[in-house]
Formats: sequence, C-alpha cells, structure tokens
Amino acid sequence: MHRLLRHTARRVAQQQCRTITVLRTADDVRAWRGDARGTVGLVPTMGALHDGHLSLVELARRDHATVAVSIFVNPRQFAAHEDFGTYPRTLDADVAALHATGGVDFVFAPDGEEMYPKGSDHGGLLRPYIDLEGVDGVGEGARRPGFFRGVATVVAKLLNIVRPDALYLGQKDGLQCVVIQRLIDDLNFDPSLVVGPPVREADGLAMSSR
Ligand code: PAF
Repeated sequence: MHRLLRHTARRVAQQQCRTITVLRTADDVRAWRGDARGTVGLVPTMGALHDGHLSLVELARRDHATVAVSIFVNPRQFAAHEDFGTYPRTLDADVAALHATGGVDFVFAPDGEEMYPKGSDHGGLLRPYIDLEGVDGVGEGARRPGFFRGVATVVAKLLNIVRPDALYLGQKDGLQCVVIQRLIDDLNFDPSLVVGPPVREADGLAMSSR
C-alpha cells in the first residue's frame, strides 16, 4: 500500500472523522467562515483528488484549526481546444477521500454559474481578469497562453470568498506557485502561501490529475 494511504488509514483508525460540510455558494461560505474557529487553511483543487492533494490537507491540518478544500473545475484556465468538458468530475469520491483523512472541515464546491454568473460580464465586455505581464512567454505559460490568467483569477476569487489565513499548493506546479506568490504580494492579499513537496507515483512521476 502506498505510504500516504497507509498513513491516512492509520489516522482514520486513530481518530474520529470530522463531518465535512459541502457548501455550494459563496454566500454560504462567507456565513460559515464567520463561525469558523481558529485560523483557516485552504487547499484549492479542481477535484479528482490524489495523494498529492491529501498531503496538502495534512500540512494544512498541522497548521490550522480549520481546513477548507475547494473543488472547482475552472473553465477560465482551459483553452478552447483543451479538455474542460472531459476533465474528471468526481465530487462524491473526492469528499469521501477527504472525509477519510479526518482533517477537513468544509468543501467549497461551486458550479460554474456561481463563480462566473452569466450576464454579469455583459457578454464578455468588462470581464475582469487578473493578468500577469509576461507569464505567457515562459514555461507552461508559453505552451498554454491564458492559462495563468485563468488560474490567478480563480485563486483571487477563492481568496476573497474563503478568506483563508494560508493557501496550500503543490511544488509540482512550480510556476503556478510563483504566480500565486506574486499575486499575493503585489495585490496585497493577506494569506501566506505554503508550498508542499511533490508526492510521487511508484515510478517517480509526480502525481497529477491533469
Ligand atoms: O492546481 C490546480 O488544481 C488549479 O490550477 C487551481 C490552483 C485549483 C486553480 O484552479
């Protein structure tokens, strides 16, 4: 059995699982956030969770009384020819996996309309994005123009909705971590960014849902 799964199973045996609340709207998260105890760590994901995500949950649990996980397949970080339509959507299995860790308090799982209401952007005019000058010229940005603009925009929204004390991302997505650190620093967001080490498959490849 994989080391982390073994560890997770042991923790489940040792402690009673917290009940996970699944919230679907920003208003519900804000209401819930007002009642949250202690500091809050947020692990943002697009679902199809694997041990890499669960290791970030463990890091967040170590540091914070409350742990939130967001699950949202963000259309704005997919180009037209990419796999947005077929990207795995496995909410029930994801919530079960998070429940098994015993360490998550709530999941924010909005739908597309909740995050980007139709009509709110006047048919594409005045649609706000977080732009990062030059990012489409380097690394994954050069291969996927517009990708980091979409990532930065949804992360900014998640930070405003959840208002965490810290955000947890995997080192596997190195440039994403750099981009989000710049976003936090340059636009004066409050949370600190914690970067977790990659968790690898048996053949050494860093785990990924992408
Ligand atoms: O790394 C991911 O899964 C996504 O890019 C993120 C940070 C959840 C934003 O959609």
